[in-house]
Amino acid sequence: MIIKNLTVRFGTFTAVDDVTLEIPAGAIVGLVGESGSGKSTLARAVTGLVPYTGGIVGGDPRRIQMVFQDPYASLDPRMTVGTSVAEGLQGLRLPRAARQAEVERLLSLVSLPASLAGRYPRELSGGQRQRVAIARALGARPELLVADEITSALDVSVQGAVLNLVRSLREELGLSMLFISHNLAVVRYVSDVVAVMHQGRLVEIGPTEEVVGSPTDDYTRSLLEAIPRLGRT
Ligand SMILES: Nc1ncnc2c1ncn2[C@@H]1O[C@H](COP(=O)(O)OP(=O)(O)O)[C@@H](O)[C@H]1O
Ligand SMILES: [Mg+2]
Repeated sequence: MIIKNLTVRFGTFTAVDDVTLEIPAGAIVGLVGESGSGKSTLARAVTGLVPYTGGIVGGDPRRIQMVFQDPYASLDPRMTVGTSVAEGLQGLRLPRAARQAEVERLLSLVSLPASLAGRYPRELSGGQRQRVAIARALGARPELLVADEITSALDVSVQGAVLNLVRSLREELGLSMLFISHNLAVVRYVSDVVAVMHQGRLVEIGPTEEVVGSPTDDYTRSLLEAIPRLGRT
């Protein structure tokens, strides 16, 4: 998946400014930057939710899935978990029994019991809801999963478990992912490559340990200094 010279303008304001970024197959590319730097706008442009002014987004837009910050808002409260996950399978035209088996397989991929299929979002914890949102996105067999602040609304106590899920999905499925967070410690934990965004532009990109170990940009350094010591190892 390649994003080339992507630019998004809202009137005269440039939210995403000439961004070029490659997401290699099977890799997790982390996108980090403070609030307002243009991360979500980039994500929405890549998934076709916002029109872009210039540039190219490679790949089939139908094979790009997005998971959002607030899993409660992204799940229909009137639908059971099973129905929500099955909705993501619509493009596959499976017979009923196969669809049910596929829903169970997807739930187990995100470490949820099949028994959860009959529950409603309000009966689940925030972490469980986010797992359901991920399962639904995976059902579409995405070429690229865009995860925008997927742990930011969760209790700190369950954030780590969702990050470990992201890592294990990458291992098991060879999933390609654009993983977005304002928190460099979080991005560092899951990403092979880190891209740093500041005021709509990419100011630094490289292998995670290089960016974290020897940042070349002042803005990246300021993000690193903001990470509590314990998180830095
Ligand atoms: N639909 C929109 N219309 C006008 N401005 C927008 C719109 N969406 C986002 N912006 C602006 O674009 C900038 C980047 O926002 P956003 O992409 O949400 O940043 P981030 O996700 O990094 O916090 C912000 O200044 C925001 O106010
Ligand atoms: Mg955002």
